[in-house]
Amino acid sequence: MLIYLIGFMGSGKSTIGKELANKLSYDFVDLDKIIEDNEELSVRDIFHKRGENEFRRLEYKYLRHESLIENAVISTGGGTACFFNNMHYMNQSGITIFLDVDIPTLAKRLLKDKEKRPLIARFKKEQLLEYLEIKLKERIFHYKKSYSFIDASRSVKKSVSQIIKEINSFPQRDD
Ligand code: S3P
Repeated sequence: MLIYLIGFMGSGKSTIGKELANKLSYDFVDLDKIIEDNEELSVRDIFHKRGENEFRRLEYKYLRHESLIENAVISTGGGTACFFNNMHYMNQSGITIFLDVDIPTLAKRLLKDKEKRPLIARFKKEQLLEYLEIKLKERIFHYKKSYSFIDASRSVKKSVSQIIKEINSFPQRDD
């Protein structure tokens, strides 16, 4: 089964994803990392040298990459769910889990390591809060198409055990 973790930057997709994969003995895959390894460029450089549209095209392409067909927990990028028919594709090919985190918690986490994230790298705290308000309003429409929602403001352990419950109640397809 493919387990897609959906959510904004800083929602804990990688941290929770690694722990979850470990618990399930699944592979952990970070979509940003797949793009970086295959393109031999960091996400930051792809944005700067080739632009956001090209990054979104690559995201679309590698989400459907042949390496993602086994049992895996996939940490998507914060925007992956919001472009093209990616959300529909993920709902067709696996289980989608939205990691819901309130804005103050996101801001606190993101202020610590925003440099590697091109969309927010130059923001001060106030600008970041404003950006989060606007972007989340835009993106929540897509995120809410996920099969289940997890309150990921709490501990990693609690999030992981709630996700495992959701997976256990997920109706498996036979094809
Ligand atoms: C993005 C989130 C990033 C990365 C890129 C764009 C976004 O991933 O894909 O910088 O549009 O929110 P993380 O959510 O893993 O930081």
